[in-house]
Amino acid sequence: MSKFLDVFKGKRDESPPLWFMRQAGRYLPEYQEVRKIGKTFLDLCYAPDLAAKVTLQPIERFGLDAAIIFSDILVIPHALGQNVSFEEGKGPILGDLPDLHINVETLSPVYQTIRRVKEKLPADTPLIGFAGAPWTLALYMLEGQGSRDFAKAKTLAFSETQMFDDLQNVLVEAITAHLTAQVEAGADALQIFDTWAGLCPATHFERWVMGPTRTIVTSLRQVYPDIPIIGFPKGIGPQLIEYGETSGISGLSLDSSTPLTWANQYLSNHLILQGNLDPLLLVVGGDPLKQAIHAIHEQMKDRPYIFNLGHGIVPQTPVKHVEDCVKWVRALKQPKQLSSCSI
Ligand code: CP3
Repeated sequence: MSKFLDVFKGKRDESPPLWFMRQAGRYLPEYQEVRKIGKTFLDLCYAPDLAAKVTLQPIERFGLDAAIIFSDILVIPHALGQNVSFEEGKGPILGDLPDLHINVETLSPVYQTIRRVKEKLPADTPLIGFAGAPWTLALYMLEGQGSRDFAKAKTLAFSETQMFDDLQNVLVEAITAHLTAQVEAGADALQIFDTWAGLCPATHFERWVMGPTRTIVTSLRQVYPDIPIIGFPKGIGPQLIEYGETSGISGLSLDSSTPLTWANQYLSNHLILQGNLDPLLLVVGGDPLKQAIHAIHEQMKDRPYIFNLGHGIVPQTPVKHVEDCVKWVRALKQPKQLSSCSI
């Protein structure tokens, strides 16, 4: 029995299942304690004992309905031989693009982390594995760092098309292998993060976002036909329809800019929707947070959905507000059940 896995079978509980993107991280004092040990962020991702401990922290504190493995989307560029480091206040820094060869050994600690987490997780709490999508990873790899518009990477994508296609093909293979290995190690569901999908021009959407994503999902489905796969193509607006219909995914994580009335009307009922609370409402807390939770529930009352944010928890989020959010989501009732017991 798992509230989270049940929604993918079309079953609804009174309140929706709940987890948060970036639920393990800097807003948690117990995470900061682990960071004080002095390892780099990437070393932490590759230390199964510590990564497992950090994965479990938000589950132990809040009793959420799913855990997500503590790792990063940039472990794939790293396993392909690119230098990756994270600098305080600057975000990720990636070195020059090397000749790309996947070094499977680099990622084996991630699978060890999954095995350790599975031993310790409550039986009703599934574990989500994840990877970045080829488009988002290619942008980071070519830009060498985070960026608002990824101008350097996109210029290369438009001008050196063969190189870009080759890079995407390598990524499709590496991501498929990484996600498959996570399921083999015990992941119960998968999420594909395409944080920068909204930067892909509509003219190239099929070639750069849809095609590579579909290839990954199709390969996974051949081995694991029923595993829930959630896509998070942030910022693509109406192209969510095409993404939802043709990628083969089972769930769609909506960013905060997606109107839920629109989503309800245009996104097929067989897609499980997730999201789309603005992460800054979790910083604000109080009534604005409570009202937003109720507004989401009201919009989603006629279909199974997963309560989550429209993007990751930000570091300045007060833990108390996360506690409140969990409490208020748990108190939500399906309207039908409400009326039947309110005589
Ligand atoms: O959700 C979770 O709790 C699981 C862990 C997770 C992390 N990153 C841990 C992390 C997940 C799922 C990610 C995904 C990720 N990583 C994405 C896609 C989702 C998104 O947020 O858009 C992206 C684009 C990255 C790349 C990345 N990693 C960036 C841009 C940064 C720096 C910005 C920042 O928030 O600091 C990271 C670092 C990072 N990844 C941290 C954590 C907890 C902070 C590192 C630290 O402790 O110093």
